[in-house]
Amino acid sequence: MERRPLGRTGLETSVLGLGAGQVGSADLDDRAASALLNGALDAGLNLIDTAPSYGLSEERIGRFLSGRRREFLLSTKCGYGVPGVEDWTPECITLGVDQALRRLRTDVIDVLHFHSCPSEVLQRVEVVDALRRAVAQGKVRVAAYSGDNAALQVALSNGAFGSVQTSVNVFDQRALDAAVPRARELGVGVIAKRPLGNAAWRFDTRPAAHDVGQYWERMKAMAVDPGDMDWGELALRFTAHAPGVSTCIVGTANLDNLLRNVRLLAKGPLPEARVSALREAFRRNDAGWDGVI
Ligand SMILES: NC(=O)c1ccc[n+]([C@@H]2O[C@H](COP(=O)([O-])OP(=O)(O)OC[C@H]3O[C@@H](n4cnc5c(N)ncnc54)[C@H](OP(=O)(O)O)[C@@H]3O)[C@@H](O)[C@H]2O)c1
Repeated sequence: MERRPLGRTGLETSVLGLGAGQVGSADLDDRAASALLNGALDAGLNLIDTAPSYGLSEERIGRFLSGRRREFLLSTKCGYGVPGVEDWTPECITLGVDQALRRLRTDVIDVLHFHSCPSEVLQRVEVVDALRRAVAQGKVRVAAYSGDNAALQVALSNGAFGSVQTSVNVFDQRALDAAVPRARELGVGVIAKRPLGNAAWRFDTRPAAHDVGQYWERMKAMAVDPGDMDWGELALRFTAHAPGVSTCIVGTANLDNLLRNVRLLAKGPLPEARVSALREAFRRNDAGWDGVI
């Protein structure tokens, strides 16, 4: 599996990481969750992304992978969800780091993101300083921001973050015009979230969920014909090889899909003409298509 530098953090990530949102679902039993997590490492992925809001995900990563901790980079998020403490306060960050370390059964988090906070929070020096302190104490390697649109630009401007996580996919390309090239110039790593556009092509009618519903509408408007490729291949190769993207964290509950994604990535970038057609279809139809948070 190809590895790339995560900006100037000194970390190297596999081009495919595991988005462990689905690993947190109670619909997935422990055995399947363990097989998925261990299977991801066996397949050469070295980045796992989770969050306190992803159900059982952090706890399962701790339980099933703590014995293999040196084999992967652990990425999670913070800013909310500490009982009895107000969200987005210094105390919430400090206690949130300690709680995440315990749930994840580790002594260091490689990449810790502020999870989708608005610009206003990024301007509170004391909150950002709490994350800096966690880095200085050796509990976190890289301070990072996860978010989109104007707030992402603010995060890139304030110099506190070594890496960012943002939506990049065939149906969500605005970051490719501004934030991703800027991150690249600054030496900030870019983790592409929702890299398959939540696989919107799987639905015959508009799904009710806000995120994949929006992507489904964009897909219809763009009227992309995947041609001789299946949609998964087109979507994955587009995101993984978009200039400036360090790694893409495909979410899956299905080890077969994960292994298929590994094989697809071995095919390398899409032909230039396919990329241009996808970029052009997005630009032509972009009707205020902000990044989906
Ligand atoms: N920071 C944030 O606010 C935020 C927001 C969203 C996402 N994220 C991160 O990004 C990760 C990925 O995002 P996501 O899961 O929302 O979207 P995604 O990766 O674009 O799409 C995930 C969907 O694609 C399907 N899939 C995977 N491989 C496939 C393949 N080869 N062919 C067809 N379908 C395939 C999966 O279904 P199966 O389970 O059936 O494989 C899953 O339903 C999350 O797990 C999380 O780590 C972060």
